[in-house]
Amino acid sequence: MAQKEREQALEMISYLIGDEETSRDEIIDRFSQNSQRYDKVMETVNFMGPLITAQTTAELFLSNRKNVYILDVAAGTGLCAEKLYSHGFRKMDALDPSSRMLDEARRKGLYGRYFTEALRENALNIANDTYDAVTISAMSSMVLIKLPIEAFEELIRIVKPGGYIINTFMHSLLSAVLLRENMKTLEDQGKWKQIELKHFQRPGNGNDVVSVHKVLT
Ligand SMILES: C[S@@+](CC[C@H](N)C(=O)[O-])C[C@H]1O[C@@H](n2cnc3c(N)ncnc32)[C@H](O)[C@@H]1O
Repeated sequence: MAQKEREQALEMISYLIGDEETSRDEIIDRFSQNSQRYDKVMETVNFMGPLITAQTTAELFLSNRKNVYILDVAAGTGLCAEKLYSHGFRKMDALDPSSRMLDEARRKGLYGRYFTEALRENALNIANDTYDAVTISAMSSMVLIKLPIEAFEELIRIVKPGGYIINTFMHSLLSAVLLRENMKTLEDQGKWKQIELKHFQRPGNGNDVVSVHKVLT
């Protein structure tokens, strides 16, 4: 039974991830349609993304966590906020284009503001230098690898100089050309600097990484 449940959960996860052909709007729609099942599916596969993201964030802020202001991008149902909360973080906002995923997060009452918006080439309706950190736990892979450089520039704009962008994703995405190029271009331009890249084993199979960039401008 447990084995069958796990297989079904893995099937659901591949459906949610989609492939190169799945449009970004279709991906959002898939999450919306499965928002009520999402937490259970992730629990079944012992999904570590939120735990690792929050742990890494906690290591960067050793004191005064209740005043650290965080934007959780691709927040979904708020699994990352739950883990951040357990480390003492209290000031967290959520950004996700799926209103139904955010509805699930709202029930947990952990975020202050909810932005039903996608991280894309467009400007975010958020003032410069607002946050101490941005967390991104398992943003849809097919979206992450196609993010234009403007999306990362927006994150840099809304994070205070000296703040951090903590991004957890599948190890295999490290070879995605655009993602790699964007990370390097912004480093060459002196906008951010990668200070950490940690690998961790996913229970079952595969590896994930957590990448930490320090915002310089
Ligand atoms: C695998 S879930 C991760 C949710 C949560 N961070 C977690 O760790 O459980 C991926 C999320 O990415 C969101 N997403 C898809 N496209 C996005 C975009 N362009 N900007 C921000 N979030 C996006 C989806 O709506 C979905 O909630």
